[in-house]
Amino acid sequence: MALSEDFLLELRDRADIVSVVSPYVNLKRGSKTYVGLCPFHSEKTPSFNVYPENNSFYCFGCGAGGSAITFISRIENLAYLDAVKSLAQKFGMNMPEDGYDDTLSKRRGRILSANREAAKFFHSTLLSEEGAEALDYLLGRGFTLKSIRGFGMGFAPDRWTALIEHLKKDGFNESEMVDANLAKKSTKSGRTSIYDNFRNRIIVPIIDLRGGVIAFGGRVLDDSKPKYINTSDTLIYKKSRELFALNYAKNHISDGKIIIAEGYMDVISLHQAGFKNTVAGLGTALTNEQALLLSRYAKEVILSFDSDEAGQKAVQRAIPILTSAGLKVRVLSLSGGKDPDEIIKNHGRERFQALIDGAANDIEYSILEQRGKFDISTDDGKLGFLKAAVNVLAAEEGMLERDIYASRLADEFSVEKSSILIQVDEACKKLMRQRSRKEQGRLRRAAEMMGLPPNRNAKVSTRASKAENLLLSTLLNNPDFFKKLEGSLHSDDFSDEFCAELFKTLSDRVSKGMGIDTEMLNAFFSPDEMSRIVKLQVDGARVVGSLDVCHDCIKTIKEEKIDVEKINPSELSDDDFNNLFKSIKK
Ligand code: CTP
Ligand code: MN
Repeated sequence: MALSEDFLLELRDRADIVSVVSPYVNLKRGSKTYVGLCPFHSEKTPSFNVYPENNSFYCFGCGAGGSAITFISRIENLAYLDAVKSLAQKFGMNMPEDGYDDTLSKRRGRILSANREAAKFFHSTLLSEEGAEALDYLLGRGFTLKSIRGFGMGFAPDRWTALIEHLKKDGFNESEMVDANLAKKSTKSGRTSIYDNFRNRIIVPIIDLRGGVIAFGGRVLDDSKPKYINTSDTLIYKKSRELFALNYAKNHISDGKIIIAEGYMDVISLHQAGFKNTVAGLGTALTNEQALLLSRYAKEVILSFDSDEAGQKAVQRAIPILTSAGLKVRVLSLSGGKDPDEIIKNHGRERFQALIDGAANDIEYSILEQRGKFDISTDDGKLGFLKAAVNVLAAEEGMLERDIYASRLADEFSVEKSSILIQVDEACKKLMRQRSRKEQGRLRRAAEMMGLPPNRNAKVSTRASKAENLLLSTLLNNPDFFKKLEGSLHSDDFSDEFCAELFKTLSDRVSKGMGIDTEMLNAFFSPDEMSRIVKLQVDGARVVGSLDVCHDCIKTIKEEKIDVEKINPSELSDDDFNNLFKSIKK
């Protein structure tokens, strides 16, 4: 099942959590822990804790936690084995060649190979007789053969099984094609068959930072709907975490600037015009994860979305996400076309360059936007606009920027600059009070969620669930208790499936004389489950665990189990009923 114990023990000793986390998080030393701003959610006050003693981390804001391996697998978006590999490499260890279960890692490898094969097939089809019309379309839009080749664009034939037939010849089986989302299943009159997901579409491959083809976007050749079909999330692809063309753009980020456009076609057209530091999202609104990813390569983002309403709404949503990832934001006001592609086509690259040079920053943009909402020729309108502008400035952290724009407003509306700044100060205090109330509410909710595990069984008995969590957090910190409690509890007695699994794994390992520190549990639990485990560990470490506490917990767990069995099924909700049914079946 897992890598050898010896290997993992050595990795744990070498890859200490502080050195693993440090390149990603600016850690400050506390008495027993290190703290910093969580890299997994955006926050202004640090709630991300690193525990050198247990070699683990935990964020009280978002609940992410685990060991060095969990950290790498989350932050680099790697599967367990790949995270181990990456750590081993960094800390100078050779991976043992065999002796671990690599089925998942193999399936990922197969998807990657199928995608690579598919990309080649689409690309050569585009350049063949069958792709003539598609190629004409692309050339007609002004894309050069060089860009088409450079981005590996392709064409999916107007047939139901063209790619499937091709991949079969290459030795891929149907379930691999479905896993890759290259094919879809259909069931007609009881028979299941598969068909090509992409048909009669221009294909744009999505390539990750390591050069792997992880997904595809497919555009129609005309105005039919849907305009795009995209690979849905697979074992190797999570669209909320990737950015189109970052693999190319990352090598062209001079002076820390990156351009974000809305679509594939804009990106390709901008690259072709020499703006090679351009990326795009993948058909969803910009996410925190994407912003954090960007912040690793750039300091400043130039938002260059379409000028239509949808594009401008996307701009509004993107600004706070980008700024809270620590990025500076500028918004291009696209005039002369609906999107960057059109501007370049109609007016040339110089026009776009001029837009970039003159791009308003986000404050200017927000103030301009407010201005549009009021009729400045009236006194009421003036007042309304000034109030709105004051709020924009209050949300801005830079004192210098505030001062500059306060001066401009003061000049334009013949008011005292000091009175604008006083208003900004007031608004700012109000905003801070609101923020801290919100933050506290969020932390409280997160804590509640942690205390009561997010688990459906919890409905059946929160009392049992509390006892189970307390028992496990005590045991995690006092492995010697396992021996003393031997035989007094069975994993079937647990109401919470996760707790049962954890108890079973822990007692198995202890009885075989193996260690139970977090690093050794990674192979058995998902990153989310690892978060829960570390949370239990952290909770348990705060109090002195005693055998009496364990005995009390065990008593409660057993009492509750009997109670659950007495529940009258007709009084249960569907969920509860299913859970009860599951626990009885066990
Ligand atoms: N998109 C999508 N599904 C759709 C429409 C759009 O996934 N039905 C995503 C695609 O990633 C697309 C982006 O949203 O690239 C922007 O959409 P749009 O501006 O309509 O497409 P463009 O890529 O700009 O294509 P074109 O220039 O041909 O209009
Ligand atoms: Mn567009």
